[in-house]
Amino acid sequence: MPTLPTDNLLLECFPPLPDHVALPRDAADDYLIASADPAAAKVIINDRFGALACAFPSATLWSDSFSARRSWDHNLTLNQLPPAAGRTLTSLTETAAGTQQVLLRMPKALDQLCHWLDRISNAAPEAEILLAGMAKHIPVSWLKRLQQNSAGYQQLRIERKARLMRLRGWQAAPRPAWRSYGSGDGLHLSALPGVFSGEKEDAASRLLLDLVVLPQSGRLIDLGCGNGLLALTAASRAPALTVIACDDSAAAVESAEYNARQNDLTLTVRQSDCLSEVAETADIILCNPPFHDGHRQLTDIAARMFTEAAQHLNQDGCLAVVANRHLPYLPLLRQHFREVKTVSSHPKFSVYVCRRPE
Ligand SMILES: C[S@@+](CC[C@H](N)C(=O)[O-])C[C@H]1O[C@@H](n2cnc3c(N)ncnc32)[C@H](O)[C@@H]1O
Repeated sequence: MPTLPTDNLLLECFPPLPDHVALPRDAADDYLIASADPAAAKVIINDRFGALACAFPSATLWSDSFSARRSWDHNLTLNQLPPAAGRTLTSLTETAAGTQQVLLRMPKALDQLCHWLDRISNAAPEAEILLAGMAKHIPVSWLKRLQQNSAGYQQLRIERKARLMRLRGWQAAPRPAWRSYGSGDGLHLSALPGVFSGEKEDAASRLLLDLVVLPQSGRLIDLGCGNGLLALTAASRAPALTVIACDDSAAAVESAEYNARQNDLTLTVRQSDCLSEVAETADIILCNPPFHDGHRQLTDIAARMFTEAAQHLNQDGCLAVVANRHLPYLPLLRQHFREVKTVSSHPKFSVYVCRRPE
């Protein structure tokens, strides 16, 4: 592999991760960097920690993830490169015309990938798109879809277990494919591609909703709200509650806002890394935490959510968490809450109700 523009850069995962999962740059990033045209006007899509952003410091940076933006800022600053502000996009904003090349890190869901390709191809139909990911994360059916839906498609050889594809002329759908379902409480819920559980109500979230006792007034925060299922159900059951929902994903925020409108409910929604953008305290926080970041399985985001939830609760407030039983959350919760009760005997999920420290 030739010397890459990232070889001399300092890259860190931000917020920091333990060594065994911390990988701010991988072989798929290197493959994209080595294959890109340095002179082309670029859009970089889904750069998780900023390896690509630092390699091409004038590129436009596109991500739906708030924590990815925090990572770019951290690593650009670390390397004394220009800040990302003023050249960032999400899948919801318009892409500048004139893009010649797109570098795209493959997401976890095919509908999200197609949605991003639709958006970028509608804005920059002439652009060449380079897609990369680790080979084990890219099913053959996805490759067939890319080939069938493009005017020009080239699959390059696998390098250091990473795959790279070059694509031109993606046949874009004109509108995003919203997915919808009816919730157990009779709400009509929709979700943009890539948003958690967009096609049906998550069974763990339903269990939490069946068990939680909501205050009838005061403030509730839905931490990691997805399409807003927990927040909107609370708002419909307890209309005097003030409800705030937050999520890392711009597409989730857009979906939750859309669902508040379509169900005629009042909800404040913020894009936030855990509670970074929520200054308010709450009487109750509901949380079905993520246990993945991209393809990595980890408890670090949940651990940060619990730490920040403890700091955002009013004196008698409680955090209600639902999670797969096998996840080791009990010791994490006990670090921050004087009382942690397990209130479900469900075979698959645990529901914890936690009271804050003295
Ligand atoms: C298991 S889903 C739960 C979604 C929704 N509450 C539900 O019950 O259907 C976890 C959510 O956490 C969000 N998330 C992941 N990392 C986050 C972070 N650092 N800060 C805030 N939200 C995050 C994900 O985007 C996802 O929507």
